[in-house]
Amino acid sequence: MPATPSAQLSPDLAARLQHAGQQHLARALERVPPADRAHLLRQIKALDLECLPALVRDYVKSKPAFALPEAVEPAPYYPRDSSSPRRPWDEQHFRALGENLLRSGKVAAFVVAGGQGSRLGFEGPKGCYPAGAVTGKPLFHVFADAILGAQDRYGSAANRLTIPWYIMTSPLNHDATVSFFETNHFFGLQRDQVMFFPQGVMPSLCISTGRVLLASPREIATNPDGHGGSLTALHASGALADMQRRGISDISYFQVDNPVVNLLDPVFLGLHSAAPDSSAQMSSKMVAKASASEKVGLFCAAGAGPRKGKIEIVEYSDLPMSYQQQTNPDGSLKFNAGSIAVHIISVAFVKQLNTDDGFSLPYHRAEKKIPGIDLDTFEPITPAASNGVKLERFVFDALQMVDKSIVYETDRTDEFAPIKNADEPHAVASDSPTSCRLIQTRRAARWLEHVGVAIPRSPAGDPDCIIELSPRTASCAHDLASTHVKLPKAIDRGARIAL
Ligand code: UTP
Repeated sequence: MPATPSAQLSPDLAARLQHAGQQHLARALERVPPADRAHLLRQIKALDLECLPALVRDYVKSKPAFALPEAVEPAPYYPRDSSSPRRPWDEQHFRALGENLLRSGKVAAFVVAGGQGSRLGFEGPKGCYPAGAVTGKPLFHVFADAILGAQDRYGSAANRLTIPWYIMTSPLNHDATVSFFETNHFFGLQRDQVMFFPQGVMPSLCISTGRVLLASPREIATNPDGHGGSLTALHASGALADMQRRGISDISYFQVDNPVVNLLDPVFLGLHSAAPDSSAQMSSKMVAKASASEKVGLFCAAGAGPRKGKIEIVEYSDLPMSYQQQTNPDGSLKFNAGSIAVHIISVAFVKQLNTDDGFSLPYHRAEKKIPGIDLDTFEPITPAASNGVKLERFVFDALQMVDKSIVYETDRTDEFAPIKNADEPHAVASDSPTSCRLIQTRRAARWLEHVGVAIPRSPAGDPDCIIELSPRTASCAHDLASTHVKLPKAIDRGARIAL
């Protein structure tokens, strides 16, 4: 089929490609079968060619220098134990405030589910991954249960509550995500309380030359633009306007890979909205680091200078080990507050960011193996080493734009069991499906024992059974005391039980 005139490269576009150092795309267009030319040309036209040279200079040909906060110190946080003499606080007060926000329908759930999940290696959107320790419920189903549970808890017969759920996908997994919900009848939620929107993408770049990579002869290689892309996608997609129409004031942000997240936590919401050191714009949850070398982002603050007291997350790779190993007099780690990527973000703050002139979060560079087409020979390649750079934005960089921000400690064994890595054949890999299932059982066992259920334990102390506690039954130990679900007095040794 001959190429239509509209599928020809205009002299202007050819010159812009040349100027941006991307002439290979003109060659790719000459070589692609005529039937695919219009498709490839559309993608070339969508590239921000004017921005590319600076991105290549700053992130591909060099690595951006990271400046630690001035006189960096650990960020203060609200300790999990509110009676801790280190920083006592009134948990009941903040719980009541948060419950009130939930009851009055001011809170939306928001999951970022646009990632590629390459470490797990699961075919399909990660939210479809079977995560439940007994039922094998997919992650999306577990979160739907959590929302239904919160509706049961905070709504009433007289005041039925519908908590909207926003799901950020990427263009690469959007359709598969929506059809998964449709096939599963929205897991018992109402169709119109679930909103999907795709995030933006960035072209993936050749690690040595900065040229835009090709995934196939007709396809530019792209990657989702990071969870930080959510802050612009919320606005651009109309989700933010939808929230305003529904009277939502706060967004409960979480990641798709953690089935034990307490995704509508009244205490956290209360602290975010009313703690004296919170501007109620963006707040964060932390867990105590497992060891000095654990690879998690750390909550830090500037101890001096114009940004004194401002909280930010410093990536583990950016904080020198000499800091990470520092200890307090009692031996605990000084830089102890690890991020679990759980935030409350106000609708007003996201709106403000998107109306501020020139708002953008910085990019972070990730080196990846990106299969596709060799840019010189146009032959297919499967690289053995990293050949590409992906540019992503991180949501936590928005903390730097917040006036005053709080961090709230939670227990990792209660709220943090991400599924990031694939299982290994002979060991329990960290952050894997198996480690997640083990944490689910241990957590359920502790919570159930707390309300008097007898749990069989092995001589080593581990539960000798498998338990899955739905977040509809309880989203935290506190809920279990008043759950509507009839609990057994004891669980049999070797049992598999879903409650
Ligand atoms: P990860 O950093 O674990 O990345 O995402 P990932 O892409 O899911 O997995 P790998 O690194 O390829 O193995 C943390 C959270 O941020 C979301 C993910 O879906 C997950 O919930 N995310 C990440 C996005 O929504 N968009 C992105 O562009 C990147």
